[in-house]
Amino acid sequence: MTQPKVAQSGVGRAEACANIALAKYWGKSPRGDNLTAVPSLSLTLDGLRTRTEVRFSDDLIADAASLDGRSVTGRPMERVCALLDRVRATSGERRRAVVTSFNDFPTAAGLASSASGFAALALAATRAAGAQSSRESLSALARQSSASAARSLFGGFVELGAEVESAAPVAPADHWDLAMLVAVIEAGPKPVASTGGMVHTAATSPLYDAWVADAPRLFGEVKRAVLDRNFALLSEAMEQSTLTMHATMLAARPPILYLRGATLDCLEELRRWRNDGSELAFTMDAGPNVKVLTPRVQADALAARLADLPGVTRVIRCEPGPEARLLSTEGELATASVLPSDPLRHQGTGEAP
Ligand code: PMV
Repeated sequence: MTQPKVAQSGVGRAEACANIALAKYWGKSPRGDNLTAVPSLSLTLDGLRTRTEVRFSDDLIADAASLDGRSVTGRPMERVCALLDRVRATSGERRRAVVTSFNDFPTAAGLASSASGFAALALAATRAAGAQSSRESLSALARQSSASAARSLFGGFVELGAEVESAAPVAPADHWDLAMLVAVIEAGPKPVASTGGMVHTAATSPLYDAWVADAPRLFGEVKRAVLDRNFALLSEAMEQSTLTMHATMLAARPPILYLRGATLDCLEELRRWRNDGSELAFTMDAGPNVKVLTPRVQADALAARLADLPGVTRVIRCEPGPEARLLSTEGELATASVLPSDPLRHQGTGEAP
């Protein structure tokens, strides 16, 4: 999709939703440029949104960024600058920028904030630089910063092929009446960042080659299950995808262990609920939290049960979400700090969102 031609105002604002992979990627291609070694397929999630403003200005000698009012520094800031440098390299814009970003979900809850964050940044920065860009090239731009962010440019079910530059839509958000429940088990920064974890896994896990060889089959099954709305096949394939990914990391030396006791207790309960007739499918990313996909009609009941489990601090209920979009006013950016009113969304801990 081509963005409309814009005047070079120096300001761009955009919103993007996080996504959760149903078929996981774990591993970078030896070709570099942050291309992935395996294909992945995700669901973009409404309810986990980042809104970002990029403002290029003559008054700045360096780029600056804040997230939820806090200054961004260190490695995260280097990644923001690298994306802005790529935009400057391909547009007439030469000035430095101030980036202001808000998440409407807890950044430290182990959720995929880099996906929504870099997708929103790619769209806002490109707009601010007055550059024209197709959605595919915005996705490729986001991918260079965070491969999962490539998928957040699109809504609904989205694929990112192995060694492919940009993500592509598989089915729209309204294709299937599903909900995703995020059971937050532990908030806080990841013990091992995903890129470092992938490099370490590839270098030391004897299971890594088998994972890379088998991931396309899992991806194919997940894709077929999504297109056919076949929940039984989807749950088998997506659970095998996440468990194979975690098994591969566990076999690294030293091992990478993101899961906690409460994660496994939660999986045990899910197995019981499934035996009692609930339709559900779980997945975990680079953290201990469990994400549960379920038909929308069962979501409220399942969310309440999940929230009661010991070790689950809150449950965030998400629906399939839309593609990343431009925001037209400053007011739309500011609403990002407002909490959603749905009580199921932020339960328990009293932690600021
Ligand atoms: O691209 P990153 O650095 O956000 O890594 C994402 C890795 C997983 O979330 C574990 C899997 C995936 O496909 O999103």
